[in-house]
Amino acid sequence: MTPRAARMADIQPFRVMALLARARELEAAGRDIVHMEIGEPDFPTPPPVIAAVQKAIAAGDVHYTPAAGLPALRSALAGYYRAEYGVEVDPGRIMITPGASGALLLILGAVLDPGDRVLMADPGYPCNRNFVRFLEGRSTGIPVGPGTGYQLTAELVEAHWQDDTRAVLVASPANPTGTLVPPDEMAAIHRVVQARGGVLIVDEIYHGLVYEGRAETALALGEDVFVLNSFSKYFGLTGWRVGWAVAPPAAAADLDKLAQNLFLAAPTPGQHAALAALSLKTREILERRRLEFRARRDYLLPALRDLGFDIPVTPQGAFYLYADCTRFTDDSLAFSEALLEEAGVAVTPGLDFGHNHPERHLRFAYTTSLERLEEGVRRIAAFVGQ
Ligand SMILES: Cc1ncc(COP(=O)(O)O)c(C=O)c1O
Repeated sequence: MTPRAARMADIQPFRVMALLARARELEAAGRDIVHMEIGEPDFPTPPPVIAAVQKAIAAGDVHYTPAAGLPALRSALAGYYRAEYGVEVDPGRIMITPGASGALLLILGAVLDPGDRVLMADPGYPCNRNFVRFLEGRSTGIPVGPGTGYQLTAELVEAHWQDDTRAVLVASPANPTGTLVPPDEMAAIHRVVQARGGVLIVDEIYHGLVYEGRAETALALGEDVFVLNSFSKYFGLTGWRVGWAVAPPAAAADLDKLAQNLFLAAPTPGQHAALAALSLKTREILERRRLEFRARRDYLLPALRDLGFDIPVTPQGAFYLYADCTRFTDDSLAFSEALLEEAGVAVTPGLDFGHNHPERHLRFAYTTSLERLEEGVRRIAAFVGQ
């Protein structure tokens, strides 16, 4: 028998992958499927990005970059923080990584010892707890609900802190709920973490896709906060695999050292794509897309509520709606499977996002056109008998 690490029994695959595979199978057999399960923008790579990458490749710029990334990209990101948030970040603290996933690996790798605990919201992005397990840490998924906007609060962090707690991981806006942590609450969480001698890690991957108010970067709270971000969501470059981490000055060399060892560098064409994504020309395209996402949210949210899905907190960002479906079922997995087979609509069951009543929840992604969302809503209405 092939030896197998004990951690492999604890690390879960995404349920939605099986659902997506089944959706593709149905499509191959000629069925029309409305995709509301996919966690990536449906827009193509912006033309200025394609042009810049073609130019870089034609010039032979396809070799390894430094482990921390193209110097020009690190500087451009520092400029982005200055222009967008009025926050000064030394480019030396910015590490370019293969997606936010690479950033999370570097940060957790630099911070956690085996047995160290990380606090996070449940529901939350499923990879987080799997990353912690991969590094032989422990995670506590703190159940959150409408009362706190599906987010951690300073009070919750305080109440769940244990002797072995090393870090708190917050995503704002969050997957699967699209909600933000208000700036004063983030500051309060930061104070609790600081007082306990821990580390605050903030996932800002859905920044840029905010439809009400503004998301403030947690970097404004102080140089001790770790932030991860990506070109995958707002910038729409999922497959190019580029993200970044911002580290406290004293931790930057550790992240660089880990990057050198774990993946040498992020993909070079992807880094050129990222640089072009920050240009004014691309940003204009991205702003139009943000408005399109907002229009989709503004359609889908009331439409699902009218059907009887309970979405008690209006999500301010990302491209997800996390809906309580108890009016229709106490088994969201079976419901999502039947919805796919019978109505041709793919959505993600709550099971992917933790242990906090996943059977009562579904995640709807508005990563498809308004017309397709309308078609999806018509089909769901017929499926639930309305
Ligand atoms: C909250 C959150 N963090 C991180 C990631 C990882 O994204 P990527 O590695 O493409 O940047 C995702 C992807 O869905 C996400 O939803």
